[in-house]
Amino acid sequence: MTLVPSHTAALCLGLLVVMVMVMVMVMVMVMVMGIEAQQQPLVKGLSWKFYESSCPKLESIIRKQMEKVIKKDVGLAASLLRVHFHDCFVQKTAPPNLSLRGFDVIEDLRRRVHKQCGVGSVSCADITTIVARDSIVLTGGPEYKVPLGRRDGLTFATRNATLVNLPSPFVPTGMLLTNFATKNFDATDVVALSGAHTIGVAHYPSFTSRLYPTQDPTMDKTFASTLKRVCPNTTTNATTFLDIRSPNTFDNKYFLDLEKKQGVLTSDQDLYTDERTRGIVTSFAVNQTLFFEKFVDVMVKMGQMEVLTGTQGEIRNNCSRRDSQQMLWAKLKRRAYIDCCRRRGHGQRRELLRLSNAFGFRVVRVLSINVCVLLFKY
Ligand code: HEM
Repeated sequence: MTLVPSHTAALCLGLLVVMVMVMVMVMVMVMVMGIEAQQQPLVKGLSWKFYESSCPKLESIIRKQMEKVIKKDVGLAASLLRVHFHDCFVQKTAPPNLSLRGFDVIEDLRRRVHKQCGVGSVSCADITTIVARDSIVLTGGPEYKVPLGRRDGLTFATRNATLVNLPSPFVPTGMLLTNFATKNFDATDVVALSGAHTIGVAHYPSFTSRLYPTQDPTMDKTFASTLKRVCPNTTTNATTFLDIRSPNTFDNKYFLDLEKKQGVLTSDQDLYTDERTRGIVTSFAVNQTLFFEKFVDVMVKMGQMEVLTGTQGEIRNNCSRRDSQQMLWAKLKRRAYIDCCRRRGHGQRRELLRLSNAFGFRVVRVLSINVCVLLFKY
């Protein structure tokens, strides 16, 4: 009789052990699946460990510096994230015309990385990708790994290519979905990517048409009045936060804004108005973990769009200038300098003036002879 309770206790203990083991196994499986979800098939030439031997400290060099950059100016996180988006959509280089502020940071990081790992070791495109990830993490977003091994493009995007490839903030969801579908992104991808507007600002011209001459009925009235106070007329160039609830924190509050009709851009707010995407917006608004998961997946996917790898393109030694352009420029400068030296003292002042103007050197007079002084900017 007395054995029964102890049997029962042993049975319970056994069951408990089994349950704990099952739970641990499930947790391990979820973790593994999470990592696997992130390890989607990679484009040929990219790898999760590309710089493991050639520049093992790459990511820590960037993270350490990015911590300082964001601490000093949190707004840069948004600019840098946006640079990466434009880089992916327009061309596999960081085009210099986008955000000079952010671009300076990338060039500074390139210098630091090349100093430690060697000139030509890491591409600007890879640095930009890591910088975007760090901008997300350092403002509170999810940590994730990025595949690396990109090379830089041989050309910069023209103004026209930039305009054609970048989505417009004035378009309704239908057009946005069609535009993104041509690049192989589905509705969930589009909504998740738009969630990047959880940080950063928009300038007045990006949303003025929603306020004047008539107010967009899909905009909350109080919110519209606030925006009108910031931008009282059509000539102001003020900015407003894209996510009014937590403008400098990478979270899911942007989706709550949309639910409350407080999205800034038409392309944002319409994601909630349109029935094809409304459910996805709601699912992200109530579940930040889900948003983070989808966002990481689509960022890794976006970061692989039409990448150059292997022997394609080049590795730039200046993120705002093509190397081949640099070499050509250096050759021209050398040539001009030799010309200048040959001509000095021979009365060909006009030609000297033309050369010096064109190539940025000066001709000075020392001890009554003309001397070519190199004052090249680059
Ligand atoms: C879905 C289509 C998208 C449209 C139509 C769009 C449009 C815009 C516009 C118009 C602005 C404000 C620009 C200004 O007035 O200064 C902006 C800002 C921004 N965008 Fe997007 N965007 C889109 C997708 C993305 C994606 C995919 C990302 C990144 C993954 C992104 C990241 C950002 C960030 C972080 C800002 C704030 C920039 C800052 O504060 O400097 N956007 N976007």
